[in-house]
Amino acid sequence: MKYLLLNHKMNLLGQDLSKYIENFPKGNNIVVFPTSIYIPYFLGKNILVGCQDVSSKDMGSVTSEVSANQLKSIGVEYVLIGHSERREAYQEEDKEVNDKIKRAINAGLKIVICIGEKNGEDKFEVINKQLETALENITSINNILIAYEPVSAIGSGTAITNEEINEVTEWIKNWFMEKYQETPTILYGGSVNDINIEELVNTKVEGFLVGGASLSIEKVNKMQEVITNN
Ligand code: PGA
Repeated sequence: MKYLLLNHKMNLLGQDLSKYIENFPKGNNIVVFPTSIYIPYFLGKNILVGCQDVSSKDMGSVTSEVSANQLKSIGVEYVLIGHSERREAYQEEDKEVNDKIKRAINAGLKIVICIGEKNGEDKFEVINKQLETALENITSINNILIAYEPVSAIGSGTAITNEEINEVTEWIKNWFMEKYQETPTILYGGSVNDINIEELVNTKVEGFLVGGASLSIEKVNKMQEVITNN
């Protein structure tokens, strides 16, 4: 079954959580990435939980950051690293992404590395560089998932075509076969919703990273239903 990863970003208020959690679909293919202060509300409820980011530093005097070991210690299992909104708004570079991945690997977290080109950029050139730097000195991809998210598709309301998704998926698989002789789980993200998922589910990706549509628990249930039936 394909994965459904739900990236809440900085959305929802405290009072929105109980309805969302009560109606959250069960499944070992569905992972929620709430705003970090809400993570504890989702834990201990048979729900797979991830964090939207992790510190590149070890535990200690680093005000406002959250370390990979701290996340692991409370039962968080997944982490998003290198989301385009962080790359854009916080100038997060591939080197920092690499440091974060190493911390997360050492803590035993499952890592979703977000990659993707901006409008007008050569996609294969960009994702080649993003992958090369992000995975520098990383020998095992056991706990690594790749989310391909073309920046112009994120939040736009329109996903890219199935053909485009398949082309990039094949390219990423080949990249990993050459370097690691195996392929990671590859996901697509960028305006996936409860309607277009019926088409997108026919692509070669093994799941979806969903932003906007993940905020409605009704849409989440619909998306999970589509994935379960395919
Ligand atoms: P979107 O966000 O589904 O709202 O396009 C996806 C993402 O940023 O991960």
